[in-house]
Amino acid sequence: MKNLKKSVMFAPPGIRTQLTIWYTGVSALLLLLFGVAFYSSLQTLLSTSLDMTLQMRSQQIAEGITKRNGQIVVEDIVHELPELNATAALIDSFDSDASDVSADTINQSQGTAYQSSTFVRIFDASGKVVYSTSAFAALKPPGVSVMNPLHNKPWRGTVTGTDGQEIRLYSTMLLDRTQLFGVVQVGQSLSDLKNRLQDITLALVLITPIILLFSAVVCYWLAGRAFRPIHRLAYTAREIEATDLHRRVPVPRARDEVRELATIFNQMVERLEHSFAQQRRFVADASHELRTPVAVIRSMTDVALSQPSEVEEYVAVLQEVNAEAERLSQLINSLLTFARADESQVHFDEDEVRLDLLAADVVESMKPLAEERQLTLCAGILQEATIIGDAARLIQVIMSLVDNAIAYTNPGGRITLSVQTYKEQACLSVSDTGIGITPQDKEHIFERFYRADPARSRAAGGSGLGLAIADWIIRAHHGSIAVESQPGKGSTFTVNLPLI
Ligand SMILES: Nc1ncnc2c1ncn2[C@@H]1O[C@H](COP(=O)(O)OP(=O)(O)OP(=O)(O)O)[C@@H](O)[C@H]1O
Ligand SMILES: [Mg+2]
Repeated sequence: MKNLKKSVMFAPPGIRTQLTIWYTGVSALLLLLFGVAFYSSLQTLLSTSLDMTLQMRSQQIAEGITKRNGQIVVEDIVHELPELNATAALIDSFDSDASDVSADTINQSQGTAYQSSTFVRIFDASGKVVYSTSAFAALKPPGVSVMNPLHNKPWRGTVTGTDGQEIRLYSTMLLDRTQLFGVVQVGQSLSDLKNRLQDITLALVLITPIILLFSAVVCYWLAGRAFRPIHRLAYTAREIEATDLHRRVPVPRARDEVRELATIFNQMVERLEHSFAQQRRFVADASHELRTPVAVIRSMTDVALSQPSEVEEYVAVLQEVNAEAERLSQLINSLLTFARADESQVHFDEDEVRLDLLAADVVESMKPLAEERQLTLCAGILQEATIIGDAARLIQVIMSLVDNAIAYTNPGGRITLSVQTYKEQACLSVSDTGIGITPQDKEHIFERFYRADPARSRAAGGSGLGLAIADWIIRAHHGSIAVESQPGKGSTFTVNLPLI
């Protein structure tokens, strides 16, 4: 009870829900990976593009700076860099040391608004600041940012200002032909780039759950659609009872797994139907066979009891009754054998058995019966053949075959029993010159209760079970039994068994 409760509590959800959970989980993982990759490549791209912008800006500024008569002259950079509005910044930050700045540049820039986000500095060849925008006041760039370009090596790096703002800087050489006469340093705040990245992260964080929710709903719906044929199949399968095994589940047209499942299910129902039909036929045949001797016994005893008779007549009736009772008991034994065989309850000994010796024994023991019917029963080639099996059951098979040969061969006929070995097989054959078996009957004689000629079989005391039992015994010995026959000329039953 406790276990049952536990299993109910921890029962996994249906396949449809499981699929949706898995699908959504995998999608979430993929989206996360995509988000991380997208974010980092975007960050690299924006940083690279910012560096390139700074480099271009520094070049444009450098083009407006010349050295005339040992003095650094800044020309019209506003024209070159309208967006930078650099001249205004230059005026704003004009250093008293840098009194050599040209007047025309200063005049052009008057009245232009000051931009605190403009980072431009110019140094002379000795590393002294010539120009600086006021924005640089909050920055303390490292010494290498000037020293490197003074040694002919451009420099780029990120510097944090006193207000906590991060600024990307780029410094490069000012050259007069090949002569280094100063350094220009430009910079730009990273806040724009960070804001943009933050916006994108926010968008990703907001969109991802919506995508996941949407994909989960779509997956759940699709799974429902995919399982619909299986539900239909299960519904029909539930309706099939033992009494209507002729029914089949619908096979979908699409060549998919559901079609395969439906086909396999139908094949299984077909096998069940076949075996149920066989079972029903067997019960009907068995009842019929049992009824006949009982009816014979009853009619004979009724007649004997209805009128006073002589002792001899009573003896004759009792002998008949005894014969029918014997037949009944044989029949019941056969039925029991089948019942046990069907339940796989029969035990077979596994001894070393000489098949040729068994055949010789059967010939000896059945010779009198054959002679009584004016038949010749003899042994043909008997090669030494040792197999593993149950001697008593194998004798039963050989006797059953010889018994049939005697019953279905007319007086004067001949029955030959031989044992030969061939490769890994022992081959026992029983040939007769009897009435033979038609091709139609040949297909059925190993079935239970099948008799080609019921009247003749019954007259010989048969019930049509001998060959079915023989077939079952030989199969249990991993062998096979077959028949070759020509109607009117005779039959040969062959039993193949694996040699030791
Ligand atoms: N040697 C044979 N020649 C001709 N017909 C045969 C021969 N052996 C078997 N048959 C046919 O096959 C049928 C089935 O044989 P099987 O031995 O199973 O049953 P049976 O002999 O009728 O009864 P029993 O149960 O007593 O053996 C027989 O009724 C007979 O028609
Ligand atoms: Mg028989």
